[in-house]
Amino acid sequence: MKSSLLEISYIIGSVTFIIGLKMMGNPKTARKGNLIGAAGMTIAILGTIFLFEKRNHDGTIADGFVVPGLVYALIFGAILLGTIVGWLTAKRVQMTKMPELVSMFNGMGGACAALIGLMEYEHNIGQTGALSAIVAGMVIGSVSFSGSIVAYLKLNGSMKKPIRLPQYNVLNTVFMISVIAFGAWVVYASPDSMAILYALFLAALVYGILFTIPIGGADMPVVISLLNSFTGLAAAFGGFLYDNKVMLTGGILVGSAGTLLTLVMCKAMNRPLSNVIFGAFGGGATSSDREVKGNIKDINVSDTAVLMNYSKKVVIVPGYGLAVAQAQHVIHELEMILEGRGVTVKYAIHPVAGRMPGHMNVLLAESNVSYDKLVEMEDINPEFTSTDVVLVVGANDVVNPAAHNDPASPIYGMPILDVENASHIIVNKRSMSAGYAGIENELFYNPKTSMLFGDAKDVLTKLVTELKAL
Ligand code: TAP
Repeated sequence: MKSSLLEISYIIGSVTFIIGLKMMGNPKTARKGNLIGAAGMTIAILGTIFLFEKRNHDGTIADGFVVPGLVYALIFGAILLGTIVGWLTAKRVQMTKMPELVSMFNGMGGACAALIGLMEYEHNIGQTGALSAIVAGMVIGSVSFSGSIVAYLKLNGSMKKPIRLPQYNVLNTVFMISVIAFGAWVVYASPDSMAILYALFLAALVYGILFTIPIGGADMPVVISLLNSFTGLAAAFGGFLYDNKVMLTGGILVGSAGTLLTLVMCKAMNRPLSNVIFGAFGGGATSSDREVKGNIKDINVSDTAVLMNYSKKVVIVPGYGLAVAQAQHVIHELEMILEGRGVTVKYAIHPVAGRMPGHMNVLLAESNVSYDKLVEMEDINPEFTSTDVVLVVGANDVVNPAAHNDPASPIYGMPILDVENASHIIVNKRSMSAGYAGIENELFYNPKTSMLFGDAKDVLTKLVTELKAL
């Protein structure tokens, strides 16, 4: 009876993960989807704690199996502690620091998978099938754990420069092959020695570090997504080992979602994954030699206010700088004032604007911008020809025409927002500094472009004041 209930709780868990993940695909349902997935996870965890029955090898229930009270106390103590720490960290984290947090949480998942391997090895010596799952889960989980910690340190600025050892690509490939071969030997020879398993664990941890340290800090979101898929895979191996459906489903979903997200990010940046891992993008080593020539034109806040006030259609292009300046609330206020004056306002959302997938959607949702005002790149691009004013706020690479015009540019081929087709382009940023890709932007020299220099929050606040006065 108990085991049937446990299976049902796992099926509920698996189904809620799938429904939750599907709902997360749309900002309107994402919050609910997250809660549904979390509820399924809670059911699966409670089911495991209270309904699990220890079985003999022949499948019969082991006699006299009682979980000691101390074990329950330890489990609930750990859950309580983890919940408090996780809750407080997630509540306090700023939106721009989200990739760091995801990286840390992902690292913890990898560590769990690695610990399962370390715990279970001794109980399964000589069983090749179980050992394959144990060793694969432990190695992948360890790589994911140490890699995620390095990614975390890079994102929070503790590890500023990529560390590239001589011939690091060759070294890493040789090291990776050695770790795989070592793991395969452990499965094959099944040595009765924990010291050997710890050596494999250590080697996998070192590989995770070697894999991540040469990659530029700016590429970390892609790397985190990749490591996330590793963690999913490691958890799925745990599911195989314990014949646990919910662990298997959860692991496969995380693994496949992480892989797809990695590929989507690479595609949106027009770079193969190998270039992220082996290349030096974001470290400043790749850039076009082409010099951008021309004059730039300034505009002040009052002229911008007048121009926007008398427009029919304004498209706002949010970028990383909007998030840094935390100007999402004031931009919503600007939008509402303009809409009140009969101006149609839309937001153009580039898939890799900002520093994490869906960054702009999440940022603008925070200030209650209506979802139907957020228009994806493919849908907004044809609309620029009928747009009077495009206001680019803290975006740079995602509107850089070099992606169309300069074959030598590292972003050549990346789909961009075709803001050049609008009648007027106003770009707000603090200086002429480059964005993430480290390259100049000829849009700023376009005769139709006017630069509105300053911090996004300051400038937009002044713009709102000016508009109110008109
Ligand atoms: P970026 O090209 O990085 O440009 C952001 C601009 O914001 C900078 O040029 C900066 O110029 C300006 N800025 C910074 N702080 C500001 C502030 N307080 N007020 C006003 N402006 C400010 O951003 P983007 O256009 O959003 O493009 C995103 C880039 O990140 C792409 O190259 C993309 O490939 C990459 N990337 C994205 C992701 C995801 S998943 N979103 C993942 C990895 C990489 P100033 O310093 O002159 O102000």
